[in-house]
Amino acid sequence: MNQETLTELSSQLPLGEIRYFDSTGSTNDEALKWAQSGARDMSIIVADEQTMGRGRMDRPWFTPPGTALAFSLILRPTLTEKPHLSRLVGLAALSIVKPLQAFGLSPQIKWPNDILLDQRKVAGVLIELVWSGEDVVCVVIGVGINVSKRAVPGTDILRFPGTSLEDALGNIVEREKLLKDILSAFIALRPQLGSDRFMNQWGEVLAYRGRQVRVEMGGDQTVVGKLEGILSDGSLRIRDDNGKSVTVHFGDVRLRPFTDILKNKATHV
Ligand code: BTN
Repeated sequence: MNQETLTELSSQLPLGEIRYFDSTGSTNDEALKWAQSGARDMSIIVADEQTMGRGRMDRPWFTPPGTALAFSLILRPTLTEKPHLSRLVGLAALSIVKPLQAFGLSPQIKWPNDILLDQRKVAGVLIELVWSGEDVVCVVIGVGINVSKRAVPGTDILRFPGTSLEDALGNIVEREKLLKDILSAFIALRPQLGSDRFMNQWGEVLAYRGRQVRVEMGGDQTVVGKLEGILSDGSLRIRDDNGKSVTVHFGDVRLRPFTDILKNKATHV
């Protein structure tokens, strides 16, 4: 991966500018700075290595050199997109899902921001907003994908089992090609953001749908129940064990299949 091959990409797709780093702290940090200094819609920061990559809740995200696809996409949402900003995490996740499906894999989205292959996390999405007063002027969509096995951190660090595309496919996919496929999917899906069709596609690949899950919502609040689906604002609907419908919003949440919790409990006893 280098600046030249990535610049070539911006002549093939309707993108802003692309900036490449052999190594940077976090592509999201670079993108946030660039967004504030006037980056165009669909501008992208790509890095071979991140030394301070981060995930949700400021958890570290590992990007050793040559192992992963790590990039941040800058959006300047239009007036029609602004009412649907909470769906952007779904748009990003679906844009990763589509190319993985084209590889013959069966990815699922673990709400809100993880992509799973065989119940293991292969990719994550981190969305950050740039505000001007009450208005969101830019959205930074950070994407990290474990391409080679070496991108997957050790089990001592992981909070959820991890995997890579190399584990799933038996070979290393070319990162520029993967980036191009994800961006093409994003460009095709973006006009559908406000539609029911978009929500249906998101719902179809939702992990644990119809299954018993446990959601930890920060503090001591926990819901156990059946995962019914995603609501139009992107929040999650659970039917708890008393038959009551509970809505889970984005934030400090951890979603787990209920059987895994039981398994974990059993191994801890
Ligand atoms: C998560 O799973 O919690 C989200 C992980 C997002 C990681 C990507 S890698 C590119 C971008 N830069 C960062 O520092 N984070 C995101």
